[in-house]
Amino acid sequence: MLEELSLLKTIALSELTTAASPADLEAIRVKTLGKKGSLTQILRGLGQMNDAQRATLGAMANAFKEEFAQTLANRMEHLKQAELDTRLQREWVDVTLPGRPRTTGTLHPVTRAQNEIIAIFTAMGFPPASGPEVESDWYNFAALNIPPDHPAREMHDTFYLPPDPEGHKRLLRTHTSPVQIRVMKGCQPPLRAIAPGKVFRCDSDITHTPMFHQVEGFMVDEGVHFGQLKGLLEAFLVEFFERPLPVRFRPSFFPFTEPSAEVDMGCLFCHGQGCRVCKRTGWLEVLGCGLIHPNVLANVGIDRERYTGFAFGMGVERLAMLKYGFPDLRALFDNDIRFLSRYA
Ligand code: PHE
Repeated sequence: MLEELSLLKTIALSELTTAASPADLEAIRVKTLGKKGSLTQILRGLGQMNDAQRATLGAMANAFKEEFAQTLANRMEHLKQAELDTRLQREWVDVTLPGRPRTTGTLHPVTRAQNEIIAIFTAMGFPPASGPEVESDWYNFAALNIPPDHPAREMHDTFYLPPDPEGHKRLLRTHTSPVQIRVMKGCQPPLRAIAPGKVFRCDSDITHTPMFHQVEGFMVDEGVHFGQLKGLLEAFLVEFFERPLPVRFRPSFFPFTEPSAEVDMGCLFCHGQGCRVCKRTGWLEVLGCGLIHPNVLANVGIDRERYTGFAFGMGVERLAMLKYGFPDLRALFDNDIRFLSRYA
């Protein structure tokens, strides 16, 4: 028994010192001290021994157990430290190195479409203008020939804000048309501008988001007529969609234009055959426009007898959807990087 124990001791301790991982150490521990471990077996034999033998062997076994535990703990500590050292070595980062520029960033599809629209109109002589997103009732409605109780206000689903300190009504602009008023007020024709920007309506479903973008455009001068508006918008659509397109003007109503029209273009997806996107009509509605109502010119101090003007407005998200071909407007606002990089 004594020899057996001392042999076991030599083997176990040498195994411990050469074990290569914490898992190996655990295996050695189980093999030695576990229920069926070799030391456990020897200790079980103590019962059949006489007192003297039992005392010697018991003392040796206990000493061995202690040494085993100590060696195991040391080795474990050593292996853990070594493991940490290799990890630190492998994951070492030189924080003083200059950053690597990422080239994957792209413009949002709405920004891209907006920039393209601006570039086309700027090239045609319409400089960009802007106005505030928080507007007064006068700029958003009254000056545009929409008096307080006009039913057209209901088409706008307005977000109203608390009045300003002087008690004037404030709201989030429902369209970019107030920028027409801001540019015209205090200036005399000839005038031309486009006004890109955010607009807000209390509305949300697959084709509406409470915030979206419009680009407004207008021109005022002597002798401005509907034919010019038609030519301009047709040229714009062909340029924006980079292909020849049928375009039609449909009579419509806006309080600030007279006559008013909605502009449709031939469906890009079915070429006029009728599909889901164009609701089987073969046409897609893309713009509102008209000749500026004489009341609007008078409201901003422009001689309504001498001058005429045209104005138009378009939704940027809608144009972006049609041009880049994605079906759900809301995807534009989820900011899922996979969607954004696909359409960039
Ligand atoms: N402001 C209108 C809208 O938001 C669009 C429009 C602009 C129509 C200019 C005619 C002239 O629906």
